[in-house]
Amino acid sequence: MTSPLLQPYESGALRLPNRVAMAPMTRNRADDATGVPGPHAAEYYAQRAGAGLIITEGIWPDPLGKGGPRIPGLVTEEQVAGWRAVTDAVHAAGGRIYAQLWHVGRMTHPRNIGGATPVAPSPVRIEHERIFTDDGMAEHVTPRELTTAEAEGIVAAFAAEARNAIRAGFDGVELHGGNGYLIHQFLADNTNRRTDRFGERIRFAAEAVQAVAAAVGAERVGLRVSPGNPENELVEHDPQGTYQALLAELAPLGLAYLHVLERGEYGAIAGLRPHWPGTLIANYNGTAPSSREAAEEVLAKGLADVFSFGRLFIANPDLPARFATGAPLNELREEVVYGFPEGDHAVGYVDYPALADLRVTR
Ligand SMILES: Cc1cc2nc3c(=O)[nH]c(=O)nc-3n(C[C@H](O)[C@H](O)[C@H](O)COP(=O)(O)O)c2cc1C
Repeated sequence: MTSPLLQPYESGALRLPNRVAMAPMTRNRADDATGVPGPHAAEYYAQRAGAGLIITEGIWPDPLGKGGPRIPGLVTEEQVAGWRAVTDAVHAAGGRIYAQLWHVGRMTHPRNIGGATPVAPSPVRIEHERIFTDDGMAEHVTPRELTTAEAEGIVAAFAAEARNAIRAGFDGVELHGGNGYLIHQFLADNTNRRTDRFGERIRFAAEAVQAVAAAVGAERVGLRVSPGNPENELVEHDPQGTYQALLAELAPLGLAYLHVLERGEYGAIAGLRPHWPGTLIANYNGTAPSSREAAEEVLAKGLADVFSFGRLFIANPDLPARFATGAPLNELREEVVYGFPEGDHAVGYVDYPALADLRVTR
């Protein structure tokens, strides 16, 4: 029997040849000064064009939303042109690609954002974890609380970034609402102590999605969430209630998809599937990379329509072809996942062989 992962999927504007999506993954290989994607980015993504859908690494809508060194932006014309080379290469290789819109809020350090103080819904510092910078791991600083007007400005910046993404040739955009970053900081209980309208847990997420949908069309907009995910020191006492309320507000828009990352004790995928009438992309964030078997089980149970793989896609550019043929998988080289200040960014990035390459060299 053919794997459910290899069945085509169609809904709204999505026309996917298979249900194996590439999960968004930061690779720290952009030019740090300009935020333009690096010289190998087009090749890296084009190599993975066999994915049902590629979702890019997180891309900032505002320099204060940059979480670490060599993370790309989608604000300047130079950045738009850089991403155009990527989308052209992916489309020429027959693929589909969404840009992930990512503002990190408090999850950064002054060293990563030109000496500025990180911004957040409320001035709540990350206590126990440290943050990566090119000068080594650093203690977090206390973030500055966004004014209401500044929060509205970030919503507008997401909409502008989405418009830039479409100009750069992306098929759509995904808002990153998970993993303890800005949108998630508004959704969570310990990081949102606001008394303005954004004190309502779902308000910022809802307004960001609505603004982006108004800018580029809801059928080209996805939202990623990770309900109850404790990563980056977030506390959510009632993820089912909070996210059910968010989905009730967003469901009528007709979004491209909801991308649910499950991590922690709350079973987010099973909990939210009944409350989302549209396409659901599932992802597990565990210690080991998600397996083919786990993905097939989720699809077979009807809990999701598409499954996204992260680490397996770094090491296996032709992951769907490997699933189709039962070919063995390449091992991930952990030490070269992230880029370095100096050195060849091709290493660990575009040098994983596809099956076709192996046949040529044999
Ligand atoms: C190197 C790396 C970078 C990541 N960067 C992002 C990111 O930019 N945005 C995001 O939403 N998730 C990010 N993630 C999380 C992945 O999208 C995914 O949820 C996680 O890797 C679990 O899937 P897997 O088990 O298939 O790897 C990253 C994960 C890895 C391994």
